[in-house]
Amino acid sequence: MKRVEVCCGKSCTSMGSRDLLLFLQEKLGLKPGQNDGTIELDTTPCTGYCSLSPNVRVNDDHFVHQAEKATILKKIEQGGIKREAQILDFSDDFLDDLRDL
Ligand code: FES
Repeated sequence: MKRVEVCCGKSCTSMGSRDLLLFLQEKLGLKPGQNDGTIELDTTPCTGYCSLSPNVRVNDDHFVHQAEKATILKKIEQGGIKREAQILDFSDDFLDDLRDL
């Protein structure tokens, strides 16, 4: 089963991921968290690729960057581009550093 996650972080949302999610919901006949046995549709928090918003993650480590309604279904079918997982450091030390700025 292919897992498709639309990023709903701030950057992706500001670049149209909500419209993209609604488009995928309509085309796939699925709501976030549902699957039809071949595709699971869901949302994800920021994936770390904000500069390439809006982002759709496919099967955990593949991405469609700068996703558009006109091409998203074909790009999901093709599987997206393999990328290293972005690990965002939200440890207490990191948050303390932010507070000190
Ligand atoms: S908000 Fe989507 S990648 Fe950061």
